[in-house]
Amino acid sequence: SNHSYFLQKICLSALLLTATSTSSPVRYLAKLSSVGSISEEETCEKLKGLIQRQVQICKRNVEVMDSVRRGAQLAIDECQYQFRNRRWNCSTLDTLPVFGKVVTQGTREAAFVYAISSAGVAFAVTRACSSGELEKCGCDRSVHGVSPEGFQWSGCSDNIAYGVAFSQTFVDVRERSKGSSSSRALMNLHNNEAGRKAILNNMRVECKCHGVSGSCEVKTCWKAMPPFRKVGNVLKEKFDGATEVEQRKIGSTKVLVPKNSQFKPHTDEDLVYLDSSPDFCEHDMKNGVLGTTGRHCNKTSKAIDGCELMCCGRGFHTEEVEVVDRCSCKFHWCCYVKCKQCRKVVEMHTCR
Ligand SMILES: *[C@@H]1O[C@H](CO)[C@@H](O)[C@H](O)[C@H]1NC(C)=O
Ligand SMILES: *[C@@H]1O[C@H](CO)[C@@H](O)[C@H](O)[C@H]1NC(C)=O
Repeated sequence: SNHSYFLQKICLSALLLTATSTSSPVRYLAKLSSVGSISEEETCEKLKGLIQRQVQICKRNVEVMDSVRRGAQLAIDECQYQFRNRRWNCSTLDTLPVFGKVVTQGTREAAFVYAISSAGVAFAVTRACSSGELEKCGCDRSVHGVSPEGFQWSGCSDNIAYGVAFSQTFVDVRERSKGSSSSRALMNLHNNEAGRKAILNNMRVECKCHGVSGSCEVKTCWKAMPPFRKVGNVLKEKFDGATEVEQRKIGSTKVLVPKNSQFKPHTDEDLVYLDSSPDFCEHDMKNGVLGTTGRHCNKTSKAIDGCELMCCGRGFHTEEVEVVDRCSCKFHWCCYVKCKQCRKVVEMHTCR
């Protein structure tokens, strides 16, 4: 659909447009829109938002670029899911910069977008490796044989090392090429890595039983990535506990340290940010903020999804809407469930 297509375009630009980007984002998006599925080398040249180093990586990895797009799409969808009940809902704009200044500035929201994007790329590339879509990579066969617990490794674990390395190469090169010395470049690099760590640190073992009628005489297992939802949940928690940092020079290297020296230093897995966020209350297109007018809110919640906070004290409209639900469901032998359709009227609240 047009909508998802637009999102795909945005994703790449979300990954690639940074605070210091000087190329016209509008022109960049227009170019991208002429690219359906990335299939030819020359396509890499058309991706005007890419820096030269990325064009080179793109050309050497044309077959991987479709996964990059898929990863970016995953990232956007997950971001919108995680932020669906917040004032900033990760929506994308038809005008640019696509996420608004929120992301071009070093805010917490930017930290999340960078982390989930680099995770999305690592995830989608890894998935493509395991499913045999790519020539350059396959399953991780280094985990094999019989485990100490007595199960058999299948020999086809998710090749997270490849996906992570690709994400590091492709996503991080943008910051690195700038010398990675500006505080914003350090912030982006840190959050990109934190995103990938959210996958790496949550790898799991999945198993399948073989044997007569479901017995588990032989069990084969493999290392698998967590579902992307889990990655999103982890990063959302990191967003809530993100550390405000500033740049400090230690010896000849520049590092980010917590602004408040009483806070314990952040780890590789934590998100860091430099600038405080706006309150996202009022429509302010100059800064890419949509405002919360028209957003649904929960009348009884005291949290950020509650009408008081969501509507920033402006009040809300209440409307009665009819919803159709499945109800009085009965199980019939064997095997289906039959339900009635029930109509009920619910109150819906919308911010003024
Ligand atoms: C986010 O909120 C705006 C209103 O502020 C709304 O127009 C938009 O559809 C929402 N986006 C998503 C992805 O929910
Ligand atoms: C509204 O918030 C209350 C309290 O947090 C919660 O129990 C309820 O499920 C919420 N309603 C909806 C429709 O999300």
